[in-house]
Amino acid sequence: MTAMRKSGKPWGGRFAQATDPQVEAYTASIQFDRRLYKYDIQGSVAHARMLAKCGLLAKAEADKIVAGLHEIGGEIERGEFRFDPSFEDIHMAIESRLIEKVGEAGAKLHTGRSRNDQVALDVRLYLRDEIRQIRRLVAGLERALIAQAEAHLDLIMPGYTHLQRAQPVLLAHHLMAYVEMLERDRARLNDALARVDVLPLGSGALAGVGLPIDRRFVARELQFRALSANSLDAVSDRDFVIEPLAAFALLMAHLSRLAEEIVLWASAEFGFIELPDALATGSSMMPQKKNPDVAELTRAKTGRVFGALVALLTAVKGLPLSYNRDLQEDKEPLFDSVETVKAALSVMASLVSGLAFCRDRMQQAAREGFLNATDMADYLVRKGMPFRQAHETVGRIVRRCLAKRCRIEELSLKELRAASPLFDRDVFAYVALEGCIERRKATGGTATGTVKKAITAARTRLGRR
Ligand code: ARG
Repeated sequence: MTAMRKSGKPWGGRFAQATDPQVEAYTASIQFDRRLYKYDIQGSVAHARMLAKCGLLAKAEADKIVAGLHEIGGEIERGEFRFDPSFEDIHMAIESRLIEKVGEAGAKLHTGRSRNDQVALDVRLYLRDEIRQIRRLVAGLERALIAQAEAHLDLIMPGYTHLQRAQPVLLAHHLMAYVEMLERDRARLNDALARVDVLPLGSGALAGVGLPIDRRFVARELQFRALSANSLDAVSDRDFVIEPLAAFALLMAHLSRLAEEIVLWASAEFGFIELPDALATGSSMMPQKKNPDVAELTRAKTGRVFGALVALLTAVKGLPLSYNRDLQEDKEPLFDSVETVKAALSVMASLVSGLAFCRDRMQQAAREGFLNATDMADYLVRKGMPFRQAHETVGRIVRRCLAKRCRIEELSLKELRAASPLFDRDVFAYVALEGCIERRKATGGTATGTVKKAITAARTRLGRR
């Protein structure tokens, strides 16, 4: 490898000077892209087999390469591999080690390949694995929510708008709202996965490969659904990273809303839940404290994932075709987001499973604040009053109750009739909270039977385990 010597680089042939150590440090990605090693090896094995199949490598050479690559994988796993920053990135580090191990044959591995199509391949393989795993973790959190919903099918709580008590709902209905969000998140991950699952290798540096290669063979080896159709696009597109990041961002937004509700509900002011001790934290100063740090951190970590999305969108927006080194900056935000999302999903699933709901507090809260006022208006509508007029009438009744410090169902029939002669004795049953719940049985409503159906549908989507 005489060509490598001056600069010590695989691309050293053209260079008369050694690389400035500052530049070496600035351009190196090996500190973080080393985590792609498994995929780099997997991709190189498939590439070597293809080269042999196409007569670009002798069978014996390919065998040496494949064996060498597997050995290198072992060295990395055992922590024996030296990740020297002068190697720039994981691709060159592995290739250099291969040449060290198997000599001439190793120097043939990069035939018909560029780091540009190689890195796109590695990240796609990585994302394919991670998205599948994240999808499973989302399903795990959904199952935790569904289990709590099923365990509390009879528990009525206040539903809110503007964080003001609005109408009664089942806790199960509230929890299932998150299941719906998470189902869409899973669907988005699936959609993204279909576009990640495309083989870029065989695009060369930018223009395609001039040697007689077989891309289909590589796609089959690595189980890719399709081949990229344009080499310039394949080496420079990063929407296959951005799209999952966008899905992660939305997923985190959903987790953050759930986290926020857990924080609120655990407060003395709400008192709706008791956090499991194992998933709460204390204060170093105030002995009485029990804090919802897990939920708070989930809420805050959402910002990292949003940040990653914006960083990547910004990195690609001004790039001329095709590959530009800017694209190396995709990795840290992506890796950080993947780790953040996985950790958040699994800890939030534990947290949700461990929540104890304070039935009395929730039910009490549902009884205060005139949550059945809409139903009283509906009652008048059923007796023939136009809704606008019913709204006005009940509004006046509420005002009267506020002055008397009582609930609407505590007024006498006589008092109600003073507001409207349409009121009858059956109004009291009509505005009972259970009635308010059970009448909302149109699809998507909070009636017990409707919520049960939603639970069954969600379980079916998730598949029985
Ligand atoms: N480390 C580089 C990256 O992550 C690999 C591709 C380098 N290609 C190049 N032409 N310098 O994007």
